[in-house]
Amino acid sequence: MAAPTTGRRGYYNATGDDYAASRYAERHMDGYRAFRNNTLLSILNSHFSTQKLRILEVGCGPGLTLEFLGQASPHYRLVGMDVSDTMVRQAGQRASDLRNQPKLALGDADRLPFREGLFDVVYATRFIHQFTHAVKQQLWQEFQRATRRDGLIVVEFYARPYHRLRYHLGGAKGRSREDYLAHFPSRREVREIVPGPLEVHPLRLPGSRVVSAALGDGLVRRLTQLVGRVSGGLLVDEYFVVSRNR
Ligand SMILES: C[S@@+](CC[C@H](N)C(=O)[O-])C[C@H]1O[C@@H](n2cnc3c(N)ncnc32)[C@H](O)[C@@H]1O
Repeated sequence: MAAPTTGRRGYYNATGDDYAASRYAERHMDGYRAFRNNTLLSILNSHFSTQKLRILEVGCGPGLTLEFLGQASPHYRLVGMDVSDTMVRQAGQRASDLRNQPKLALGDADRLPFREGLFDVVYATRFIHQFTHAVKQQLWQEFQRATRRDGLIVVEFYARPYHRLRYHLGGAKGRSREDYLAHFPSRREVREIVPGPLEVHPLRLPGSRVVSAALGDGLVRRLTQLVGRVSGGLLVDEYFVVSRNR
């Protein structure tokens, strides 16, 4: 299955130098990224009694989350991997001044270049939506292979209901319904990807740009937690799924 998973390499090799600036430059994205970072940290703290953890980020891009985790604890042993040379190079540059530097690897998430059960935690942000449902299922199995028994897998998903609405409002920009919605798995599809019990942690609300400008990031954070809780995560845009590797 090499071809279905390496299809984005050329795109990110060509555009990766602008990725952080183009995706995260807007002010409200600082709030989202800080909330995502802190949510990840609180997930790690609530599931483990130690910070001596081997942590792998799959599809690490320019290394923004690795930078945060490297600053958050000197004990984390961090590894980032990505299919794009441009992204791996950028992640290396970003980490160059860190005391706790991540190791970086070029590779395909389809065949993680690590032995079975090496990591306590495998996580991915804004990564898994890129693949078809069948490939998402295979990638999850590969995440499980690299995670030790009772370790943790943490993956960010985009929620279906909001993006179905966007599709109907013309947000698909010419893509077919099937192609567009494949990025946003339904709750049933998430259950097919993630075996066993899972936790949902809301990360971002639809319209957070407007809410953040009007009310500030503190209120956005509280609203995201509240709306995520009362809707079981359904009325959010992005959310973490957390699963113990059994
Ligand atoms: C949308 S970016 C997300 C980057 C970062 N995780 C973030 O949250 O901003 C998707 C990343 O996945 C990487 N990627 C795509 N296919 C991959 C694969 N098969 N194996 C590993 N990384 C891959 C891309 O190179 C890119 O860095």
